[in-house]
Amino acid sequence: MTARHFLTLTDLSSDELTTLLHRAVELKRLQHQGELYQPLKNKVLAMVFEKSSTRTRVSFEAGMTQFGGHAIFLSPRDTQLGRGEPIADSARVLSSMSDCIMVRTFEHEKIERFAEYSSVPVINGLTDEVHPCQLLADMQTYLEHRGEISGKIVSWIGDGNNMCHSYMHAAKLLDFQLNIACPEGYEPHSRYLEEASDHVRLMSDPAEACKQADLIVTDVWASMGQEDEQARREAAFAPYQVNKALMDIAKNDALFMHCLPAHRGEEVSADVIDGSQSVVWDEAENRLHAQKALLEYLLVE
Ligand code: CP
Ligand code: NVA
Repeated sequence: MTARHFLTLTDLSSDELTTLLHRAVELKRLQHQGELYQPLKNKVLAMVFEKSSTRTRVSFEAGMTQFGGHAIFLSPRDTQLGRGEPIADSARVLSSMSDCIMVRTFEHEKIERFAEYSSVPVINGLTDEVHPCQLLADMQTYLEHRGEISGKIVSWIGDGNNMCHSYMHAAKLLDFQLNIACPEGYEPHSRYLEEASDHVRLMSDPAEACKQADLIVTDVWASMGQEDEQARREAAFAPYQVNKALMDIAKNDALFMHCLPAHRGEEVSADVIDGSQSVVWDEAENRLHAQKALLEYLLVE
């Protein structure tokens, strides 16, 4: 039997995603009440990180421990993968010794190749193209604060990057309207735009994108791997900062989200990210609960 992977949000159906989000809320309640629930006793998650991480690493590691299993952190500095061992060989070997593999890497094709040769589920912990685990947490956070997101208006302000692509997937699966405001030259890939065309409106004016918005989301201007573009990007993105003036255009009860890490004074002003409409700390914590729901879904019979 081929393993069930989670490489993009669209590896789940709308119903599966909705069920998983509600399960994440339930798992959070159990954990906050201190109830022991260990469905993954003796199970092992291998975590391959080719880029830095705080939230993804800690949430998967803590989640596996809480579930009674174990997680192994693998960095390119210490593995043979980092010395050029082929992806296919690494995937075969790691999957023969573990029950699930999480991969954070650069090119999306790399994780697809990894999954092709893995006999156990592969989870995408971020590629240059998408960040589906973050969307599980974001959508759980919206659900907890405001209820179902279907029919709502979400504004994506800034770079048409991996997070933006995953928001486009979420818009399609959960049936919300996504207004994307990007500077010219930084739009999302056309393939993603075509796939989600019914649910996405692309514009250049951030104020226009925030009208009637229920949720405003942004991300760093230079993602991991783009550090040398920082100065050029700062100039292009300067009018795209999410600040009080932009939040005031949205609905009064609009929420603010950011996957973190954030740069106060760049993509978001300090008064917004640290203000009353921001739910970024719940969003970060929900990485733990949403990924536990994902692990349970992929690994528990
Ligand atoms: N949001 C997120 O993925 O954070 P890390 O890079 O710290 O894992
Ligand atoms: N777009 C960012 C997200 C970090 C969690 C990056 O890829 O660096």
